[in-house]
Amino acid sequence: MPNASSSALLLFGATGDLSRRMLLPSLYALHEDGLVDAGLRIVGTARSDMDDDGFRAFAKEALDEFLPADRKDETKLAGFLDRLHYHPLDASQIEGFAGLAEALGDTSEGLSIFLSTAPFLFEPTIEGLRRAGLAHDGVRIGLEKPLGNDLASSQRINDAVAAAFQERQIFRIDHYLGKETVQNLMALRFANMMFEPLWNSAGIDHVQITVSETVGLEGRKGFYDDTGAMRDMVQNHMLQLLALTAMEPPVDFDATSIRDEKVKVLRALRPVKAEEMVRGQYKAGAVKGGSVDGYADDLGDTSDTETFVAIKAHIESWRWQGVPFYLRTGKRLAERRSEIVIQFKGVPHNIFADRGGKLRANRLVIRLQPEEYVRLQVMAKEPGLDRGGVVLREVNLDLSLTTVFAKARRRIAYERLLLDLIEGEQTLFVRRDEVEAQWRWVDAIRKVWTAEGLDVKPYVAGSWGPNAAIALTERDGRSWND
Ligand code: BG6
Repeated sequence: MPNASSSALLLFGATGDLSRRMLLPSLYALHEDGLVDAGLRIVGTARSDMDDDGFRAFAKEALDEFLPADRKDETKLAGFLDRLHYHPLDASQIEGFAGLAEALGDTSEGLSIFLSTAPFLFEPTIEGLRRAGLAHDGVRIGLEKPLGNDLASSQRINDAVAAAFQERQIFRIDHYLGKETVQNLMALRFANMMFEPLWNSAGIDHVQITVSETVGLEGRKGFYDDTGAMRDMVQNHMLQLLALTAMEPPVDFDATSIRDEKVKVLRALRPVKAEEMVRGQYKAGAVKGGSVDGYADDLGDTSDTETFVAIKAHIESWRWQGVPFYLRTGKRLAERRSEIVIQFKGVPHNIFADRGGKLRANRLVIRLQPEEYVRLQVMAKEPGLDRGGVVLREVNLDLSLTTVFAKARRRIAYERLLLDLIEGEQTLFVRRDEVEAQWRWVDAIRKVWTAEGLDVKPYVAGSWGPNAAIALTERDGRSWND
């Protein structure tokens, strides 16, 4: 029963950070808005030894901390806490799963599972679920990253999951796909006539995708140092943004059509040469007015893990021949910003040149966060009698999504993704072939790093990354949208 709502949701890693900050607040929001069935039971599991009441107190504390004050409704909160149950489990011990199945009771009406656990627990968890009869046809499983740290390990995990579940039951999470503005990218491209005819190498000079953060290690020392910016951000979020920006128009807005088009882009990514990438690591500096330590101090050790990466990527296709996609992401950068910039080509002939009119090519800025807007930079004439020549200026055609849709509730990505998981809607989840194409490209890049000894270049915390990243665009006569 692929598209029926589940009657229970099982959260692995229920006492973890993601659960506190995102999952519990998201589930509460869905409950508060009456978007999940009154009968939906939410069962948390983790190693900590507690009972239902203990978990409810834990959840209450998390909601107190992470729910905005205007969303707290005491009656609804009590109703939400009533839905919660808890069953302690050490997922590395297969025998324990029988007790979990018993605690869940009858799951024939559909069960959704959200797995966010340490990578080494994936395989035993899947096996435990299978043996306990919790992998039947009515079960869906959501998998949170990291799903492996290279192609081989991700294939191993995917194989383990595929041994117990069919692909239609597997929901690989990339929380960027749950963001409203990321979905809006599809609306912008495919619900409007004006962009698509220019959306190719004839109309576009290059594309930039920036996901910059001001935060540093955030207490995730071990994980981050083993992972680095390339695998933490580029392999998943940034490649998904690239795929949505570059894909051909899908035939339908459904999981198969959209994922078919995304995977074609991911497979068409050209291997990257050493001179097309920059790795960086932050040193001490100032972020948002306060001084911060460098990465080595944050980590308490020296390391050659990159906290910044910039790449000039190419897609080998008719549409994108010769159009670079510049990607950059990093920690401790100048500001928090996720955006896609489409730099159009200039007009073929400037009729204003003899009258002094200077032109700049149009630029479309799609800001995903923290602000949400679409801004088209167009040329306009400055008002006046033009005796001294025509003065042309770049002005913004501005669409602030926050203003236009001021009444719509802003939802966090996990609200959407959890609801889709519970209801069995796969469009915003990543298919196995996509993840593997992403890893193939990333693994090849990391191989080049090793073969060419590509060092991490230091950058001052609070800057836009190492100078070499600026040079990556400047040497092509282009500049980042800073
Ligand atoms: C996560 C990364 O996937 O995405 C984090 O592991 C990063 O390092 C986070 O901070 C960024 O997400 P968002 O939604 O804040 O842009």
